[in-house]
Amino acid sequence: MAAKLQAPRGTFDVLPRAGKRRELLREEADDILGRAGYGPFESPVFEDTELFARGVGQSTDIVQKEMFSFEDKAGRSLTLRPEGTAGACRSYIENGMHKLAQPVKLRYWGPFFRHEAPQAGRYRQFNQVGAEALGSDDPSLDAELIVLLAELLESCGVISRLRLSSLGNSETRATYGEELRAHLLAREGELSDEIRARIDANPLRAFDSDHEGTRAVMADAPLLTDQLDAVDAQHFADVRALLDEVGQPYELDPTLVRGLDYYTRTVFEFDSPSLGAQSGVGGGGRYDGLVEQLGGPPTPGVGWAAGIERILLADTEGELDGLELAPVFIAIAKPEAARMAFTVARELRRAGESVQMEQAGRSFKGQLKQANRIGADKVVIVGDEVEVKDMESGDQTVAGDFGEVLALVHANENLDLEGP
Ligand code: HAM
Repeated sequence: MAAKLQAPRGTFDVLPRAGKRRELLREEADDILGRAGYGPFESPVFEDTELFARGVGQSTDIVQKEMFSFEDKAGRSLTLRPEGTAGACRSYIENGMHKLAQPVKLRYWGPFFRHEAPQAGRYRQFNQVGAEALGSDDPSLDAELIVLLAELLESCGVISRLRLSSLGNSETRATYGEELRAHLLAREGELSDEIRARIDANPLRAFDSDHEGTRAVMADAPLLTDQLDAVDAQHFADVRALLDEVGQPYELDPTLVRGLDYYTRTVFEFDSPSLGAQSGVGGGGRYDGLVEQLGGPPTPGVGWAAGIERILLADTEGELDGLELAPVFIAIAKPEAARMAFTVARELRRAGESVQMEQAGRSFKGQLKQANRIGADKVVIVGDEVEVKDMESGDQTVAGDFGEVLALVHANENLDLEGP
């Protein structure tokens, strides 16, 4: 027997019931971001590998271990995108978006790929919803993006906490990096092998470690937020003042490290306690040097991305389960009525109804059972004549023409809508 085919490790199928929750989430995100001026944006699912090496950063886990890279037939190295910000910046440059009114606000939704060890909430193909604002360093953009993500999470029933910090600019980071390196080198023996190997490349990652010895070393490490220059300190204060103004709660966390190298100034992350180990539901920050680093004009930027699957897992309140309108079921009372039934189904759908019809050769009794199974509140029985059966009362009424079918299908719907 042929070997059983399975979806690749770390990937999954979306079946219709789960798909509906995703659709609702997407509508919510499009609505919340769209009303704040973020326009729909798409970029390719694969890009030149170099974009991520330069954009996300050589020393990151993403670039070092997690990229799905391959060669095309011409020998060029391509990579399935592990994140969306580098592609958005590449597109900003390539399409001359700096000539548009600034800031340019983009929102996106789609699949991303990271070769990680799969576990609950962590996949090799996952989906993100994201938003980016390019072309202005106004602190109101940082605060706006944070508040929009908070609103999206709240409307999806996700309970979360927000951690916030500032990474300053590249010079502050370089000076601070030296100081941190010196601190790590002085206590090298207590660090994990992984952190020790990265003291040079990325000492900040040590804050992220769960290795006991490393944690002890980091407990009295110098903090970057104590060393911001006056301009960055003011920017961070302005962001916080706006969050305070609208009552958005946050915790200052000077040890917050994001797994991507492009961040400057504001960084933030939303965690949800209901998610377990993979608790990060969404995060982002400012990346004022990234467009320039990718060959474009100096352009500030800020944004975030949130994991769709993690939002769905964290929706403990069932906010995304949605209300489904009961469909109408078209039953076929005798084989000669099949064409007529097909027409009635089509016309009812054109009139805006949600309609299913018999399409599996069931007996008449089986058809009524099926109508029950799908939760139909009305069954249109097409035979010698057309009758509409109300599933709740059991009443069955003959309809003289299509207008009457429609009226009977609609009957009582208004009453339901006018409830308390
Ligand atoms: P990130 O923190 O790497 O940021 O990913 C954002 C979110 O994607 C995470 O909070 C998590 O919910 C989800 N996610 C990441 N990896 C996985 C995975 N393997 N399985 C399931 N979900 C996952 C970024 O990607 C940045 N581009 C965000 C950003 C936009 N910063 C500025 N603009």
